[in-house]
Amino acid sequence: MASEKVLGFSSLQLLCLILVSFSSFLTTTSGKRFSIKEATIYDIQLAFRRNQLTSRQLVEFYQKQIQIQNPVLKGVLELNPDALAQADRADHERKVKPSGSLPWLHGIPTLLKDNIATKDKLNTTAGSYALLCSVVPRDAGVVTRLRKAGAIILGKATLSEWSHFRSDQAPSGWNARGGQGKNPYTLDDPCGSSSGSAISAAANLAAVTLGTETDGSILCPSGFNSVVGIKPTVGLTSRAGVVPISPRQDSVGPICRTVSDAALVLETIAGIDTNDKATIKASKYIPKGGYAQFLKKDGLRGKRLGIVRIFYGFGTNTFLHQTSKQHFKTLRQKGAVLVDNLEMDNINEILSEPSENTALEFELKFSLNAYLKDLVASPVRNLADVIAFNKKHPKLEKLEYGQELLVIAEKIKGIGTWKQALLNMTRWSRNGFEKLMKINKLDAVVVPFSNFSPVLAIGGYPGIIVPAGYEKGAPFGICFGGLKGSEPKLIEIAYSFEQATMIRKPPPLRKLKP
Ligand SMILES: *[C@@H]1O[C@H](CO)[C@@H](O)[C@H](O)[C@H]1NC(C)=O
Ligand SMILES: *[C@@H]1O[C@H](CO)[C@@H](O)[C@H](O)[C@H]1NC(C)=O
Repeated sequence: MASEKVLGFSSLQLLCLILVSFSSFLTTTSGKRFSIKEATIYDIQLAFRRNQLTSRQLVEFYQKQIQIQNPVLKGVLELNPDALAQADRADHERKVKPSGSLPWLHGIPTLLKDNIATKDKLNTTAGSYALLCSVVPRDAGVVTRLRKAGAIILGKATLSEWSHFRSDQAPSGWNARGGQGKNPYTLDDPCGSSSGSAISAAANLAAVTLGTETDGSILCPSGFNSVVGIKPTVGLTSRAGVVPISPRQDSVGPICRTVSDAALVLETIAGIDTNDKATIKASKYIPKGGYAQFLKKDGLRGKRLGIVRIFYGFGTNTFLHQTSKQHFKTLRQKGAVLVDNLEMDNINEILSEPSENTALEFELKFSLNAYLKDLVASPVRNLADVIAFNKKHPKLEKLEYGQELLVIAEKIKGIGTWKQALLNMTRWSRNGFEKLMKINKLDAVVVPFSNFSPVLAIGGYPGIIVPAGYEKGAPFGICFGGLKGSEPKLIEIAYSFEQATMIRKPPPLRKLKP
């Protein structure tokens, strides 16, 4: 009957749409409406203070969103059965403690990439069945900090299995336990390896998330899913209790919907952890008073930004050129000085990645063996066991995707080659990126997508990516990279750019067709 259809929707579908679109609004006793969807940490803390919202309502909202959207998106691997209890505790603490005395992340539901260990009911598996039911010795260093701040551990996010260091053939965002993660904008490639964190932040399945990066694994999925990612200077955040690839390159960082959320999460997780010695040296980079002070709308004023054209592709992508032109204009309008047409030495060596790959194969073997050995219990105790596990369970672990990267790592010998690779990378960083930054007195370079990640990766440098547009519906980001410890500047630049452009749009709601 015609009356049952409005704009092609049946009345039942219409009712569902209305319910879903309004379900993120809470009408409170004070009569004001608060929308959880797209809420920032600031918004949430304000709503807590005004008694418009509880942590329990937040957790229930995200659990519901996960129930609706995750069957399609596959961004979440496990839900923490204790999340509601943690929410109730946060709600109670808020009542009894003096207002303003609680940390920013207090009562905020946080989702962790599944390579970040939690000593609780959640598994920590890097997406692989080989680590299912392994028992970790303790929380990861960053998780200790989150818990201390009163954050709620909502669950674990999916990822490219083994942080995409099993095989080059495996698709981005795929892992044996969680299946294929989907970009909520395109229902296609979410990029990886922190795919689930970016998918979940984008689709409002969590308030904030953590990812990890060895080379591009925070920056790329953040760009693809129209969220903000910070890859911190290596050692700024502890890697203890994180299923590793390389202590020289691995970094844990926030993936969130806004620069301010990412800065507040970084502030919470950065700092010394005696289980990761690199954090001691890097702690000199942590500014007194934290990162929130750098969320300045005029943060671009006087900043010198370098443009190295080779990262913008060669010539023909008119869309990219037009968008960059427009963004360059914005950056200049906001007071930045753009230093264009720069050349960087050793760029071809860095981008072809031979030394990086050699070094990573070495470092994976030693660091993964150490991680597995340190577990209290585990089906696999070293890399050779992992390889054997995959061979023994070819269906479960989709062995057709291969595991050549693990096999190469297992076979690797000759410490001399590794040292040579490190010398190469040190030289390339010094004569390439460091020199470029210093002689041009740059605060950052600006690069589209995550194209700059190998440069940042081999030198342990930080980067931040911010939503920059959509091409035929597919999001992309713009990345600012700087020297070690330049997070304050990068946050100023990124925040100022974000506030001037406000490009992020939430993706459509995704659910299974009935
Ligand atoms: C951890 O894995 C075990 C084995 O599959 C499962 O029974 C348990 O529910 C998992 N934990 C969570 C929190 O999902
Ligand atoms: C070091 O770099 C040179 C090129 O500059 C290359 O030929 C050599 O293979 C590299 N060594 C390693 C171990 O990656």
